[in-house]
Amino acid sequence: MTVDAQSKLPRLGTTIFTEMTALAQQHGAINISQGFPDILPPQGLVDAAIRALQNGVHQYAPMAGRMDLRDWICRHHAQRHGAQYDPVRECTIGAGASSLLFAAIQAFVRTGDQVVIQTPAYDLYSPAVTLAGGQITEVPLLTADGTWHLDALLDAIHPDTKLVILNTPHNPTGTVCPPGFLDALAEHLEGNKTLILSDEVYGPIVHDGTDEVSLAQHPALRDRGITFGSFGKLLQVTGWKIGWAAGPPSLTAELRKVHQYDVFSTGAPLQAALANFLPTKEGKDHLDGLPKMYQRKRDRLLAGLKGTSWKWTPAAGGFFQVLDARNLIDGNDGHWAREWTRTHGVATIPMSAFYTPHTPQLRVCFAKENATLDAAIERLRHIASDHAH
Ligand SMILES: Cc1ncc(COP(=O)(O)O)c(C=O)c1O
Repeated sequence: MTVDAQSKLPRLGTTIFTEMTALAQQHGAINISQGFPDILPPQGLVDAAIRALQNGVHQYAPMAGRMDLRDWICRHHAQRHGAQYDPVRECTIGAGASSLLFAAIQAFVRTGDQVVIQTPAYDLYSPAVTLAGGQITEVPLLTADGTWHLDALLDAIHPDTKLVILNTPHNPTGTVCPPGFLDALAEHLEGNKTLILSDEVYGPIVHDGTDEVSLAQHPALRDRGITFGSFGKLLQVTGWKIGWAAGPPSLTAELRKVHQYDVFSTGAPLQAALANFLPTKEGKDHLDGLPKMYQRKRDRLLAGLKGTSWKWTPAAGGFFQVLDARNLIDGNDGHWAREWTRTHGVATIPMSAFYTPHTPQLRVCFAKENATLDAAIERLRHIASDHAH
């Protein structure tokens, strides 16, 4: 018997992250490719998780998430963005921000709907839109001088555009939505029914005093969209896969219709641990210190590469740095990222996996222990000296 296994995503293969991580393991290379910290989470959080397990929290959490954790999320948005969300009707906890982004796209996008995505983009958006039957319009995130390209985005948005997906701080470029960008977007959307999904999983991680920008803080946009956050990124627990979505009741209700038959609910003991840990002094201190910690990591990486042929614009947010390899190689960053994993023992992500940059570029993750960073720096310096023209 033959079965009909015709692919709904024929152009999709294994992601570059899986490939580079496997290659790093095969060659014993330092892995600064995939976006996960090798820094341990706060001890108090780990203790809280152990306590939850010992105290018998083993059964399903509520579909929309534990109420005390949803309360914390709404307080977080109120304190950081001056935005009021109702934990009962406007906040949902899921299996990482990914599951909720996916649920939102399935909930809102119908066959033929136009969805605007700024590229390069986090790799979930596009297949999720395709599965929902949507039509993707890609616009460049950045102008030639590296600033957010407002005109490209606005030009692509028509009165019948269904959805715009934003991401700030941005993966993979490390840029942050500039002040004024959301005002211009809000003005452009006046009278439109267009929805916005704002992926803010690196939310508070901004560097050099850059302003944190959130859809939640924008009065005209707050009710047009959903903001997404991730405890994985905030607490060095990406493997826990717990994230949230906050948005007005009408949008939240639709998102939950998909969430309840996809994920339903996630990690009850881990939600308990988060809810118990975050309001503690250790929890508050951790979040307060987060941007500084990552800025120091970024600075350590860039100081270590000073005087080499690598070029860069320092990341303004998140935990990725783009390194420009134009002085080292002529093109094909994909070939060289693989080659350098084998020959120089350091795995990175070629930016050409995301889009076609003007110059060969690599994305590196600096959310690493100093020892990992230092070893990676040494190897990146070797690459630079071996490729000096
Ligand atoms: C931009 C962006 N959005 C969403 C996610 C997924 O977050 P989570 O691990 O909470 O699903 C990631 C993780 O790398 C990301 O970089």
